[in-house]
Amino acid sequence: MKLIPGFFAPVFFFIASLAISSTAFSADPIVIKFSHVVAPNTPKGKAAQKFKDLAEQYTKGRVKVELYPNSQLYKDREEMEALQLGAVQMLAPSLSKFGPLGVRDFEAFDLPYIFPNKETLYRVMDGDIGKKLFAKLGAKDIVGLAYWDNGFKQMSANKPLRNVEDFKGLKMRIQSSKVLEAQMRALGASPQVIAFSEVYTALQQGVVDGTENPVSNFYTQKMHEVQKHLTISDHGYLGYAVITNKKFWDGLPQDVRAELEKAMQETTVYERDIAQKENDEALAKVRAAGTTEVYVLPLKDRLVWQKALLPVHKEFEQTIGKDLLYAIYNVAAQVEKEKAGKK
Ligand code: LMR
Repeated sequence: MKLIPGFFAPVFFFIASLAISSTAFSADPIVIKFSHVVAPNTPKGKAAQKFKDLAEQYTKGRVKVELYPNSQLYKDREEMEALQLGAVQMLAPSLSKFGPLGVRDFEAFDLPYIFPNKETLYRVMDGDIGKKLFAKLGAKDIVGLAYWDNGFKQMSANKPLRNVEDFKGLKMRIQSSKVLEAQMRALGASPQVIAFSEVYTALQQGVVDGTENPVSNFYTQKMHEVQKHLTISDHGYLGYAVITNKKFWDGLPQDVRAELEKAMQETTVYERDIAQKENDEALAKVRAAGTTEVYVLPLKDRLVWQKALLPVHKEFEQTIGKDLLYAIYNVAAQVEKEKAGKK
């Protein structure tokens, strides 16, 4: 083999190294379009950003995450279809929005006052119950990756909501959940399903009188501008399932998938860590705005609301399934027992 004369060698090797490095990095990154309906400065919005940062860092640029918050790409209903079609690769919809997909079991999370505390909630999410629910998504060509938290929901309207009777005849916006429909009916209100991105306008124009949401959504969607009263009732829970398209996920190189799983795990710890803080800060901002009167429901009245709402559990024993329901009750009882044991 004829050697290259001394002078050109370093130049040749330099050009060769450029070629190698450019081919090594020229493979287009795998793109993950992550679409969601909330604002970036919310627990879910910040977690999506965190996932992007970690995923791109851990995969050394082999993956690029494009974030589409605020329903930029798709609204509530369309985003599930877009995921199944592969138009987007990742979503984190509310657990209240899996009914239209045909997986109503997730509506167990919507049952009023079903989670007495976060310990119970996280144990349900991360334990057998959470895994079994994710397994049901397989038939929809969807893979469940993690459960994210946005805390408990509060009620709002343009009149004070202190007693159950105050809901009588009100039109209340809900997410697409049969349990939430029954919850509002149990309070004497009429439920209306409206896409999240349309709630502000619907409240402003009086299409609906009120709604329910964690304060981080209430504040970042500027609902405090169009709602004069907010009752801190913690009557229901809002959580998310981070999901991906099965074909996309199974088609990833094994090492890339492992790095993404690591990024998702760390992001989930971060997300749950900021969830309460974000909601507390949002409540402080609502108070500071001075446009909405904030009322914290006293325990004695909370018990009255609970009494009015608990029949909804019975109503859904068949649809959600007695096993699932009692499995959640048992987790709550176990947590209580452990807490009592520590006293
Ligand atoms: C809602 O529609 O009220 C929420 O699910 C929005 C969200 O994703 O937090």
